Amino acid sequence: MEFYLDTAQLDEVRAAAEWGILRGVTTNPSHVAKAGVRDMRTHIQEICWIADAPISVEVVTTNPQEMVAQGLDYATWSPHVVVKIPTIAAGLTAISQLTRQRATATCAGCAHFEGCPIRSRLADAGALTRQPEVNATLIFTPNQAMLALAAGASYVSPFVGRLDAIGENGVTLVADISAILRTQEQSGKIIAAALRHPMHVTEVAMAGAHIATMAFTLLQQLIEHPLTERGLADFMADYERSQSK
Ligand code: E4P
Repeated sequence: MEFYLDTAQLDEVRAAAEWGILRGVTTNPSHVAKAGVRDMRTHIQEICWIADAPISVEVVTTNPQEMVAQGLDYATWSPHVVVKIPTIAAGLTAISQLTRQRATATCAGCAHFEGCPIRSRLADAGALTRQPEVNATLIFTPNQAMLALAAGASYVSPFVGRLDAIGENGVTLVADISAILRTQEQSGKIIAAALRHPMHVTEVAMAGAHIATMAFTLLQQLIEHPLTERGLADFMADYERSQSK
């Protein structure tokens, strides 16, 4: 399973990227507002430079034509942009129209444009002009996931913790979508989202999620264990003792 960060905070993306485990970033309008982002394009281009991995950028309209127009614009910002679209009727219309078009990542205005190794690598792979990829978000049922995939989404994002919060089972939703993909021999990746604690991460991996996206604090929690801390302290103390003899 791949680890994504669910954030728009550059320092968090930088820290996770340094650990070598970051395979993508998901943003949403709430994260963008929290990070105080004014210029979305520049900010997403900075995330691209740091993470060099897929970045979901959410549309901010409920009109399908405007969703398509925003998605086509986002796709020019960086070859790593994945357009995030809510799983509503208008969203299905937008997904089906957007994923039939082609867009070129011009990276216009990017501070790292000159000699950018990411851009030249993806240019060599012929990946600068492409059909925009879509992450269908706000998924709470297997049927919504199936519809989003049928419309042309590459990713579906079930919101695990938000289902748990209303007394349903978010991990079961991930397992159900995973079973459907296998049974139907259908492609598409499950991004388990709105994860609240480390057990969620383990459970969605076992349930078949391809990707888990999470807050930086949760990612940090995954690393930590008191026995690791205690064991390390003991090893270091024993080493120090052996050197001072
Ligand atoms: C996923 O892509 C969403 O951005 C995210 O997980 C939202 O969930 P939350 O706000 O409930 O954490």
